[in-house]
Amino acid sequence: MPHRWIRWPRPAGLAYGADYNPEQWPEEVWHEDVRLMREAGVNLVSVGIFSWARLQPTPTTWEFGWLDRVLDLLHEGGISVDLATATASPPPWLTRAHPEVLPIDREGRRLHHGGRQAWCPSSPIYREHSLRLTEEIATRYGGHPALVLWHVSNELGCHNARCYCDVSAAAFRGWLRERHGTLDALNAAWGTDFWSQVYSDWEEILPPRLAASFVNPSQQLDFARFSSDALRDQLRAERDVLRRITPDVPVTTNFMIMGETRNMNYASWAGDVDLVSNDHYPEGARACPEGARARPEVELAFSADLTRGVAGGEPWLLMEHATSAVNWQPVNVATPPGGMRLGSLAHVARGADGVCFFQWRASRAGAEKYHSGMLPHAGTRSKIWRDVVGLGRDLAALAEVAGSRVVSEVALLFDWESWWASELDSHPSDRLRYREIALGWYEALWQAGVQVDVVPPGTDLAGYRLVLAPTLHLTTDETGRRLAAYVEAGGHLLTTYFSGIVDENDHIRLGGYPGAFRDLLGVRVEEFFPLLPGVTTAVRTDAAGPGWTAADWTELLELDTATAVARYADGPLAGVPAVTVNRYGAGRAWYVATQLAPEAMAALLVRVRAEAGATPAADAAPGLELVRRSGPEAEFLFALNHSDAPARLRAGGTDLLTGTEHAPEGWIEVPPRDLVVLRTRRP
Ligand code: GAL
Repeated sequence: MPHRWIRWPRPAGLAYGADYNPEQWPEEVWHEDVRLMREAGVNLVSVGIFSWARLQPTPTTWEFGWLDRVLDLLHEGGISVDLATATASPPPWLTRAHPEVLPIDREGRRLHHGGRQAWCPSSPIYREHSLRLTEEIATRYGGHPALVLWHVSNELGCHNARCYCDVSAAAFRGWLRERHGTLDALNAAWGTDFWSQVYSDWEEILPPRLAASFVNPSQQLDFARFSSDALRDQLRAERDVLRRITPDVPVTTNFMIMGETRNMNYASWAGDVDLVSNDHYPEGARACPEGARARPEVELAFSADLTRGVAGGEPWLLMEHATSAVNWQPVNVATPPGGMRLGSLAHVARGADGVCFFQWRASRAGAEKYHSGMLPHAGTRSKIWRDVVGLGRDLAALAEVAGSRVVSEVALLFDWESWWASELDSHPSDRLRYREIALGWYEALWQAGVQVDVVPPGTDLAGYRLVLAPTLHLTTDETGRRLAAYVEAGGHLLTTYFSGIVDENDHIRLGGYPGAFRDLLGVRVEEFFPLLPGVTTAVRTDAAGPGWTAADWTELLELDTATAVARYADGPLAGVPAVTVNRYGAGRAWYVATQLAPEAMAALLVRVRAEAGATPAADAAPGLELVRRSGPEAEFLFALNHSDAPARLRAGGTDLLTGTEHAPEGWIEVPPRDLVVLRTRRP
């Protein structure tokens, strides 16, 4: 991955701030804003994200005066600016003049303006206008002393990730020509002999629009790739304008690595920005279907670790999260006291070099007026404001953490292409949720205090003692080879059901499942036996003790070179191995052919970790969140207690938040809903 990492000239220490939307307020308020930002310790704000209509009120007029004054005021107040290209939401005049810019959904419905992001990612008209705006902004503000970072668009693809219009169809065909070269190659890749879909002219090819039956899965997969790439092209186009005009100002765009947001393959975007930034909102009541829902703090940790993973381990920036409730869930639950602090600092523990919120001042009008902000409707006499000021103090106390890195012994592979492919329709079971499965394994490690890097499959695995690859459904030949080489050289790998099943075109790898990993795992699966909702199966290990339970999925599996670790104890597959381990070269490859219950995963991982030599970040009570960040001179151990009872930890060092000195190897009590950040100097 060709990264172009620049150490962004963040405010000294950790960044702290928010989206700032002064255009929603009269000018007198701006002065109060800057005063209060200083009071809270804010040092970075993102400005102009939704300002296009204000900056260019008609196709031929520009109004920058207000933004000049905003940037000057912020600069006078010592607050740095992450300036947006303002292209996220086109003004009504643009879509009125060019309705073809508006996106069209899978069912052929045009999506009008009135909300936001009313643009088709492949529209040349949108591209032209957005780049013109980018150029104007970069030219005018490129030399402004407040500017430290460019913010391309906003959450690219949040609402318009997949457009099915005719312009997108033509762009899709262009993308397919690049990928497949010839129609024959495309027909082969898409398996078009099935259901008489053979294409004889490129013009016959469409996006996977609403059809009478299941749409060709390879076509769906390519459209997912194309759609992610189309948005990335917009990112690149804006970034190129910015780099041409201000080569020294780093560029970011806020990713959405959270929850079920899956349309953007951020692993393939990260090399296109100078700094990875991410937005994170807890899933809350919107929640997933049935099944295990990871606790919010575990989901947060997973998302943060994945953000660091796509950033290649570099520090990153939390661009948005919420001080309390959001506005877009059925019931928007407020954050309990202490929750915002723990959540924000959990991101810092996991490599964020700054925490920002949506937004500075809660709006009084518009769709997000009930969304929390740093400065709530109630003003400064409020729990939120007191917490905001307190967090500013905490971040100042943690300044020296900036630039340090999280270094882990365990990696968990996360692959957007496997996510897309494993959840296509007409599969053996529609109950598989790729991210939930990964989260389940992650949660077992989180509970045990084991630090994990969540990384894309292209990551160098050599330094890890243990690699987990849950449901790596789509496996390229290269990934198959890399994992085998990792194990052969002494690595420990654990993979699970429905992994290694298809190639990059979503074609089955034949000869027995999991085709990509048969030799590595030393097993051969001849048939899937998915389980109906509510059905569980008993699983017995060789060891004495209570049995395990599993659900969702089982497989008719035979051992080749592997040995059985556990077998089904009932049902149609009684006696068949459910968990296996295989020696391969100098390493070991574990296979879990079913969806184990959380206790079973935890128990299995104790054994797998012991053999791999992967240890917790410290000796602590179960459930204490532990992460280490390492800097050139010091190491920082974060221990976060999300529970209502005190939790103990054996460690020493200076608690950066309180200044307390703790003797080495002593027991420290972390109060409920609180944390310690212990610094130990390198010898
Ligand atoms: C993000 C977005 C913000 C705001 C926020 C509300 O998706 O970037 O502009 O809408 O959500 O939670």
